[in-house]
Amino acid sequence: NAPEHGTALVVGTGYGGAVAALRLGEAGIRTTVLEMGALWNRSGPDGRVFCSTAAPDHRSMWFRTRTEAPLATFLWLDVVNKNISPYPGVLDRVRFADMSVFVGRGVGGGSLVNGGMAVTPQRAYFSEMLPHVDADEMYRTYFPRANAMLGVNSIDPAWFETTEWYRFSRVSRKHAARAGLRTTFVPNVYDFGYMQREAAGTAVRSALGGEVIYGNNHGKRSLDRTYLAAALGTGNVTIETLHRARAVRRERDGTYVVTADRIDLAGKVVETREFGCERLFLGAGSLGTTELLLRARETGALPGLSDEVGRGWGPNGNVMTGRANHLWDTVGANQSTMPVMGIDDRDNPDNPVFAEIAPLPTGLEHWVSLYLAITRNPERGTFRYDPATDGVRLDWNRAQSQVSAASAKRLFDRINARNATIYRYDLFGGNRTFADDFTYHPLGGCVLGRATDDYGRVRGAPGVYVTDGSLVPGSIGVNPFVTITALAERTMSRVIAEDYAR
Ligand code: FDA
Repeated sequence: NAPEHGTALVVGTGYGGAVAALRLGEAGIRTTVLEMGALWNRSGPDGRVFCSTAAPDHRSMWFRTRTEAPLATFLWLDVVNKNISPYPGVLDRVRFADMSVFVGRGVGGGSLVNGGMAVTPQRAYFSEMLPHVDADEMYRTYFPRANAMLGVNSIDPAWFETTEWYRFSRVSRKHAARAGLRTTFVPNVYDFGYMQREAAGTAVRSALGGEVIYGNNHGKRSLDRTYLAAALGTGNVTIETLHRARAVRRERDGTYVVTADRIDLAGKVVETREFGCERLFLGAGSLGTTELLLRARETGALPGLSDEVGRGWGPNGNVMTGRANHLWDTVGANQSTMPVMGIDDRDNPDNPVFAEIAPLPTGLEHWVSLYLAITRNPERGTFRYDPATDGVRLDWNRAQSQVSAASAKRLFDRINARNATIYRYDLFGGNRTFADDFTYHPLGGCVLGRATDDYGRVRGAPGVYVTDGSLVPGSIGVNPFVTITALAERTMSRVIAEDYAR
């Protein structure tokens, strides 16, 4: 398996992996991409690639016998989750002791399951989190490049004001305004032209058909339609699906070998393969990349890796909460799954929060206003390698999550007080009003400028690069995929210009 000259290997097909694959392919470098999930391009017996959120089947989750949706209950009833048969489904929930992490599995990673919200962070907070990165260059070159490549667009404000599908957002905006809070539109990669056709009845419904966390059959510009399609179009990139990278080692000649298990649709390992490469790009996400590097360091395969590998992890301050509205404030039975508006209190020096107005599309009026709040929780967790399981543990405790919940509570207490409303107790289990024990936004573990140099070159492993969310130090104040994409663009343009020119 000696690598041919000039070959590259990419692990993962999320944002970081997809950018790496495209830019390597364009530069004429023969590139193999390993992805543990499946390729989602074939319809099932129901004629659809992905299953719906309302009637999840085996395609919904990564080897589970029951779905594990973020909202566990409704009116305290276990009506949300369904029994399913194990299969390499598209959404995974990785459970650590006091925090669980939702991630996408499949060609496209998180882009297959996420809400599509494409937000460029505030410049001041970006610079606070990543002080060594030239913000001028990011905001001039890499953020615009990422937005253009991802196909980011915005809802037509006139349609927003009139459509029944965003009544839930308008109601939350009104309540925020009463508390003196500003709202702002949130751009998205979902094609709003398509969505308007869905509403008009001239296109098959996806966002308006309740599809999101188990995949969108239409309308969403996920990575398989953008970066990855372009990468394959270079003719230099191949993707190996259902291949889980498990070990990395360095050969004497300085090349790398990645050991990967190929699994079948039952999850059984059917083959173990070794992939040699001159350069290795890790885009397995915050959890995947950190685990690979920690294991490599702790088992002695890459002993020179920095002590910083495993550190600096955070859930991007994610907290969900729901408010109960008055009977006259109906949120509508029809709700689009793509959020388009956020309560923007980021400039509040005492309690900066960005709270996205989230849908709860049940097809019935339920008077719930739901939110995903992104708070600026400064707490950080650490991953540790566990030799007994050959996996990783996450040191993160409930008190650390409480910091996010307390910040969200300060904001929503204000809104409830001004509108004489209360929280919903029935949505997250245990009569809790705030869900701070899971995240959609795992960030960190191989932080830029610490575990790597300022361009994602892994310290102690020349020729290995990190391009994904593990570079971002635990918090970025908004939904992270635009930042991850832009940082990956910055890394790839530097690495191709400098490292490949040598
Ligand atoms: P990402 O997780 O996307 O990709 C990693 C890939 O590597 C996956 O395909 C995985 O299967 C694969 N992999 C992992 N380990 C591997 C191994 N050992 N071998 C082979 N392959 C491996 N963000 C946002 O900006 N706006 C939003 O609206 C949302 N909404 C949202 C909703 C939900 C339900 C989720 C789960 C997430 C979001 N996010 C989001 C978060 C966003 O999707 C996330 O930040 C990015 O997908 C992270 O990109 P990465 O490139 O870091 O990894």
